[in-house]
Amino acid sequence: MTMTRRRALRLFGLGAAAALAAPGCSLLSGTPLPQVLPSRAPLPKPYGVPLPLPVTARPARSDASTDYYELVQREADAQILPGLRTRVWGYDGRFPGPTIRARAGRRTVVRVTNALGAPTVTHLHGGHTPPESDGYPTDLVGPGTHRDYAFPLDQRAATLWYHDHRMDYTGPQVWRGLAGFFLVEDEEEAALPLPSGERDVPLMICDRSFAADGSMPYPASAEGPGAREAFMGGVLGDVILVNGAPWPSLGVDRARYRFRLLNASNARVYELALAPAGRLVRIGGDGGLLAAPRSADRVRLAPGERADVVVDFAAHRVGEHVELRNLLGEGPQARVMRFTVERDARDDSAIPAALSRVETLDPARAAVTRDFEFSSGSMGGHTGWLINGKPFDARRVDARPKLGQVEIWRLTSDVAHPVHLHLSPFQVLSVAGERAAGPPEWKDTVELREAQTVEIVTRFTGYRGRYVMHCHNLEHEDMAMMSTFEVV
Ligand code: C2O
Ligand code: CU
Ligand code: CU
Repeated sequence: MTMTRRRALRLFGLGAAAALAAPGCSLLSGTPLPQVLPSRAPLPKPYGVPLPLPVTARPARSDASTDYYELVQREADAQILPGLRTRVWGYDGRFPGPTIRARAGRRTVVRVTNALGAPTVTHLHGGHTPPESDGYPTDLVGPGTHRDYAFPLDQRAATLWYHDHRMDYTGPQVWRGLAGFFLVEDEEEAALPLPSGERDVPLMICDRSFAADGSMPYPASAEGPGAREAFMGGVLGDVILVNGAPWPSLGVDRARYRFRLLNASNARVYELALAPAGRLVRIGGDGGLLAAPRSADRVRLAPGERADVVVDFAAHRVGEHVELRNLLGEGPQARVMRFTVERDARDDSAIPAALSRVETLDPARAAVTRDFEFSSGSMGGHTGWLINGKPFDARRVDARPKLGQVEIWRLTSDVAHPVHLHLSPFQVLSVAGERAAGPPEWKDTVELREAQTVEIVTRFTGYRGRYVMHCHNLEHEDMAMMSTFEVV
């Protein structure tokens, strides 16, 4: 069966009809919404395990211009729930994968060897990457083979991440564990007195569900044929993991910490806040440092989005607990992790009033405005996820921006969709007709809420070739909510 035929069956087959009858549909449109896959294993008690820190990858070798890394995708048994083992798919058998720390402007080559039983594709999310290394969803790395992904990293310091991107299978393969941090550093950022070292902590937040034996089932395999379609709105877990551990806890100094928050969930949106209430000083987003810090009492993150925040635990006494909560969750899903203030400590860090120079991309320079509509589309009486009425087809190019050109893209949703562009960071111009507030910031993923139009301005620089734009709800992405653009 060809890819196209299989996809057509999946998109418009009987399974989707079952999904429409299921609960968890949007009242507005009857369109399926993300649904919780309930765990069968007992949920662990919150704050019972220490926060793990992903290991830092070491280059296998380096030369004058380049650092060479080697990662092997393989299965491994992880200890995630107390007393149970969980089979994961990990880069180097780890979930999250090793953190790559790279310098802006210094070439980084990552050799990914596939020791799994299925093809993979690796994508550096937020990378300004030539097309042959960007992880186009059909550039498969077969079992037993490898591929060298070369990243020039001609870009600003930022919190990036790498993850699987195989066409039709990104949801299950990321769910099994194929994701890790990739931190780009540069001189501008290194010169700032921000919290660093042990006080610069990446936090990968994602939800998972567990079978009674500790495995992390994904609807396709767990519930028989058609189950995947029943979750076409998105798969939600009922256990919140941070760096792969359920509701962990971290002992902290009475000092400032920088947390690099990443929402690596398939479909869950978080609104993160401290309890007792406290300030989250946001210093960065998807595309690196903001021009100036912004203090907030909550930070919202859709799948794929990042936020760098500084929290000052000097506001608390030794022995106090500070929870990181999810205001959009209920019951256990309202919790994320907990900090325990353990000791007084010296703190030389500061949050400068001016962080970075952020260019304003002027929409008046836009040569083209394009419209993209993200919707569940009906074809033959059944439903799939479409952009401008079409499912993803790797043989079709939907837009041909010119290299160097500034463009406005107008994105419209039915239900909520976190939209992600490869190659080109963008700035949000307006949300639901309102001009975006505050100074511009570089992003690569933007959440469209239900029935909303978001206008972004972007500039296509660096490389000609084929890239994708897609919904980062991974079930929507796998069910074809993706489009190819070619920079010409
Ligand atoms: Cu994080 Cu195209 O994906
Ligand atoms: Cu990406
Ligand atoms: Cu979507």
